[in-house]
Amino acid sequence: MSAWQKHLDENIEEILIDEQMLAKRVNELAKEISAAYQTLDIDELVVIGVLRGSVIFMSDLIRRLILPVTIDFLAISSYTKGTRTSGTVRILKDIAESITDKHVLVIEDIVDTGLTLQCLLDLLGARRPKSLKICTLLDKPTRRLVDLEADYVGFQIPDKFVVGYGLDYEGHYRQVPYIGVLKPEAYQ
Ligand code: IMP
Repeated sequence: MSAWQKHLDENIEEILIDEQMLAKRVNELAKEISAAYQTLDIDELVVIGVLRGSVIFMSDLIRRLILPVTIDFLAISSYTKGTRTSGTVRILKDIAESITDKHVLVIEDIVDTGLTLQCLLDLLGARRPKSLKICTLLDKPTRRLVDLEADYVGFQIPDKFVVGYGLDYEGHYRQVPYIGVLKPEAYQ
């Protein structure tokens, strides 16, 4: 067994969502999103990935959308260190193109307290897109501090710190192909 595999075995408490479940749900979401925008007969859907946690989910999702898609990225930092939100959201990198008068779908990895989502909606909404919707892979509804919900949700999960499929702990575990619960000893 490789040292990395041993590290995963020792630090991942359980696999919450395996690769098959992820692929199935991403497919369902793509169908739902495609159907919703097809009825609007749009000529462009700007899909904005929130770096870095959303990139793996986004790349899987957009390849299944039956729509004219363009992509852009935004980087936000809501966690200074560790696993709990700091309450301050900083914009580290803005999107490259104007979204005024365009249909916009923001891709998030997880909505936890909702502070990041609120900041994104304020920031992007002020630029007057034609429509602005949020799609998140994961949702931790029990931790919400602001009364906000995403328009499309992959999975609702309990209040556990998870990694994999783009989600990290201090930069690590993003490439893990499943969503796993990190043992509290790994970050406490
Ligand atoms: P919120 O502003 O509290 O909703 O936090 C959203 C951000 O916190 C996400 O985009 C993640 O980067 C991070 N986050 C929240 N919960 C987790 C988790 O369980 N694992 C990894 N990152 C998380």
